[in-house]
Amino acid sequence: MGFGRYAPERIITNDDWADWVDTSDEWITQRTGIKRRRFAAEDESTMTLAVAAAEDAMKDADLVADDLDEVIVATDTPEMMTPDTAALVQHQLGCRNVPTYDLGGSGCAGFVQALDVAKSRIAVEPKNILVIGVELISRMISLRDRTTAVLFGDAAGAVVVGPDPSRSEVLDVVSGTDGKHAEILTLAAGGTRNPFNEASLASGDFNRLVMDGRKVFVEAVRRMSEASVEVLGRLGRSASDVSLVIPHQANIRIIDAVRKQLDLDEERVYVNVHEYGNTGSATVPFALSEAVESGRITTGDLVLLTAFGAGFHWAAAALQF
Ligand code: ACO
Repeated sequence: MGFGRYAPERIITNDDWADWVDTSDEWITQRTGIKRRRFAAEDESTMTLAVAAAEDAMKDADLVADDLDEVIVATDTPEMMTPDTAALVQHQLGCRNVPTYDLGGSGCAGFVQALDVAKSRIAVEPKNILVIGVELISRMISLRDRTTAVLFGDAAGAVVVGPDPSRSEVLDVVSGTDGKHAEILTLAAGGTRNPFNEASLASGDFNRLVMDGRKVFVEAVRRMSEASVEVLGRLGRSASDVSLVIPHQANIRIIDAVRKQLDLDEERVYVNVHEYGNTGSATVPFALSEAVESGRITTGDLVLLTAFGAGFHWAAAALQF
């Protein structure tokens, strides 16, 4: 019923990164397509990013905090270990004492998974559910580790899902998990396996995102493509019926490979990874909000969301506008 987004003002270019670590604009652009990303200001937090996107979505839906019946926040970079970011967002927005929860640690697929949860909750009982994808990852990565840190940026995206399908409808969602790959994309420090202590602080492990980029690449393409075909197949549709695909914005080569698997031209795939980098759970709702506002999505369009992330988790959703 409403779409919103927020990105912090501070722009970090590839040349900025080249000042900090041994990298270059050319390397980052060629491997990822990323040119810029945003980093949150010191007075911002995961909660403030989420609230800004939520307010944008609520305004778009013409709803106020009192109208919300549930809040779900998908994030890998929560405000704190406990309570969850969703509780903080609920209070900050001034909602009633409605239930809230985080879909935490579900990687970049978190928002589409949360949409799946919201859809099924509404099938049980009509309600307005605020679904947010947010990451403030710049504070969780090592600014000395060129292998992963250059990929990411901070942002938030949000939607209000409700019982009124007149503007758009979530037709179907598929999602899946393969936990055996958990170790090849992980930020373990701070959990019970690897608690914060003097040793982790001294080694710098407290913010080391571990990733096998090539394995992630291959699985991301396979799972995002397969989930897309599956959700469309369940509806008796195929990729050729889709007006716009909004894939998780990890990097342009993954996006292009998924596009080729689905046999689509570039015009039918939304890309903003060059501007914002990989913003985790925020990429899909952020891009969705941009695409709706700019008129890339109009009435009658079948829109496909597809995402993949740590876990591994993946999910794809078909939306009818
Ligand atoms: N700048 C310059 N050189 C670098 C950098 C950098 N930022 N990072 C790594 N290198 C070097 C490596 O040290 C290596 O050097 P060597 O050959 O002397 O050993 C060389 O570049 C190649 O490194 P690889 O890791 O093999 O590079 P690859 O071609 O695999 O690209 C990348 C790395 C971009 C991460 C790629 O694997 C990828 O896109 N993977 C997908 C993962 C992804 O997007 N993850 C995001 C989170 S998960 C998600 O959102 C789905």
